[in-house]
Amino acid sequence: MKLFDVYPLYAVTPVRGEDVFVYDQNGQGYLDLYGGHAVISIGHGHPHFKKRLKDQLDQLVFYSNAIINPLQSDLAQKLGQLSCLDHYQLFMCNSGAEANENALKLVSFATGKSRIIAFSNGFHGRTSAAVAVTDNPKIIAPLNSHHPVSILPFNDPETLEKELKKGDVAAVIIEFIQGVGGLDQPEEAFVQALELLCNQYGALLIADEVQSGFSRSGAFFAFQHYPVTPHIISMAKGMGNGFPVGGILIHPDIQATYGMLGTTFGGNHLACAASLAVLEVIEKENLQAHAAQIGDYFMTQAKTIPQHKYIKGKGLMLGLEFDFEVSELRKKLLYDHHIMTGGSSNKNLLRLLPPLTIKKNHFDQFFTALKHAL
Ligand SMILES: Cc1ncc(COP(=O)(O)O)c(C=O)c1O
Repeated sequence: MKLFDVYPLYAVTPVRGEDVFVYDQNGQGYLDLYGGHAVISIGHGHPHFKKRLKDQLDQLVFYSNAIINPLQSDLAQKLGQLSCLDHYQLFMCNSGAEANENALKLVSFATGKSRIIAFSNGFHGRTSAAVAVTDNPKIIAPLNSHHPVSILPFNDPETLEKELKKGDVAAVIIEFIQGVGGLDQPEEAFVQALELLCNQYGALLIADEVQSGFSRSGAFFAFQHYPVTPHIISMAKGMGNGFPVGGILIHPDIQATYGMLGTTFGGNHLACAASLAVLEVIEKENLQAHAAQIGDYFMTQAKTIPQHKYIKGKGLMLGLEFDFEVSELRKKLLYDHHIMTGGSSNKNLLRLLPPLTIKKNHFDQFFTALKHAL
């Protein structure tokens, strides 16, 4: 059987990982500044992560959401503690798209409305409503194109108010640091206006933290760099360090009813163990503060690259924008210097999403290679 050929592949076959490196079948190491697309949070093969998962494998892998699973409550408690959002409620699922799909469904249930406002260059996933609020017509199939969605520019409160005033908007969904779209961030004054206008016109606010959450930006969630209170926060990627797990945090004002949301696999025992291990390591190794500090180091060092146009991002969601397309540069870094990097829909942006355990010497290795490759 052939694989459905939807991914253009790099000629690299990682078979093993350790902290910020992956190794191919010949033992060649690659510095992973891409983190498998912002997924590897606490590093490849972290001993505590492996032990937690192995111990859970020996106990119970899965049972459905019809029974009491104390690991879900343990996770909710730890998540509440580290994110300082103890008063929110947790619903678990399996991926970022699914988290946003549930968030969008929930705001529609809660408000009785159906239109969603999203932003230019936003990416929210590939399921039906998640892809409909994504600003990329190429990945929206005719089936997904009928959702009532308005895509607006960042930092334009007048246009936002004009749309919200119509009274049919259930929610606004926003990435406080855009991922796939190229690391743009809304201005603080716009975020304040956004919250005010949402409250004024009865719309809810969804923070898509699928990529920026779990301490990657130097705060637990990227919205926490702003004075704003979202009604729903979606999470995935770094939440499981490679184990597929996602979820939403729901403001206490939104009340659950039986059957409103549901899933077979979401919140299973192994997924909870993986996510608990991630949180325990983030706390023990102080990775959130580390992400902020090492991100600052990157910013300082990046200034020494004469060819760069802009330095973008926050914490360990980083990018260097050039005045040329970076695809050849990325190939050179990968094949000649054995460094994995990321791209974005901004073709001139080299994007870095390393494990949160990355050290200064790894960035030094990157900058030496980058200078050479340029
Ligand atoms: C901000 C954001 N939201 C949602 C998604 C979708 O996540 P998943 O691929 O796990 O469905 C992504 C994936 O890149 C993302 O970056």
